[in-house]
Amino acid sequence: MRWWDIDPVLVLERTLFPDDAWSRGMFWSELAHARGPGATRHYVVAEDAEGTLLGYAGLAASGDLADVQTIAVSEAAWGHGLGSRLLTDLLRAATAFECAEVMLEVRVDNLRAQRLYERYGFQPIGVRRGYYQPGNVDALVMRLTDPANPVAPTPRTSESEPPGHV
Ligand SMILES: CC(C)(COP(=O)(O)OP(=O)(O)OC[C@H]1O[C@@H](n2cnc3c(N)ncnc32)[C@H](O)[C@@H]1OP(=O)(O)O)[C@@H](O)C(=O)NCCC(=O)NCCS
Repeated sequence: MRWWDIDPVLVLERTLFPDDAWSRGMFWSELAHARGPGATRHYVVAEDAEGTLLGYAGLAASGDLADVQTIAVSEAAWGHGLGSRLLTDLLRAATAFECAEVMLEVRVDNLRAQRLYERYGFQPIGVRRGYYQPGNVDALVMRLTDPANPVAPTPRTSESEPPGHV
């Protein structure tokens, strides 16, 4: 993800996270730490062949711990493995940052995302009460140890190719 991706990313962000969408400034701030020798962030976009944004994801590294900051796929593209490809990319980045663990928070009512993370071997380790505001929704905290060797995901079908590239 580069600064010129932020406008289309914001459109998708506001559609997928209407209650707590990140601001333009938050994406700028994340990208400011994504380049150069001291980089602590890894952000990626997925586009179709015409260059239309289909998804994006970001990871933050701190010492030997990494956090999945965000992962999102345009609803029309759900169920084709793009979320899996984005997560695979983040885990590669966590390995490159030499992180031993990857953590994330996910809404307790977001079962689709939880299934994605479980397929990669993330395990629930706790709950943060009222983490998502407004709405006072709890967050499930999940952890993956050894991101260099995640559980191989097993899609339900293999007939359809993912619609984009990361
Ligand atoms: C969560 C999210 C990123 C998943 O993205 P996705 O592209 O649908 O993810 P995948 O396609 O890799 O996996 C979803 C399902 O498709 C299946 N699938 C994967 N590859 C497939 C393929 N090639 N063909 C058919 N189905 C496939 C998976 O098995 C999975 O099935 P399951 O839900 O029954 O386990 C997406 O739903 C999203 O953006 N949600 C809104 C934002 C959000 O909640 N983000 C997470 C915040 S913590």
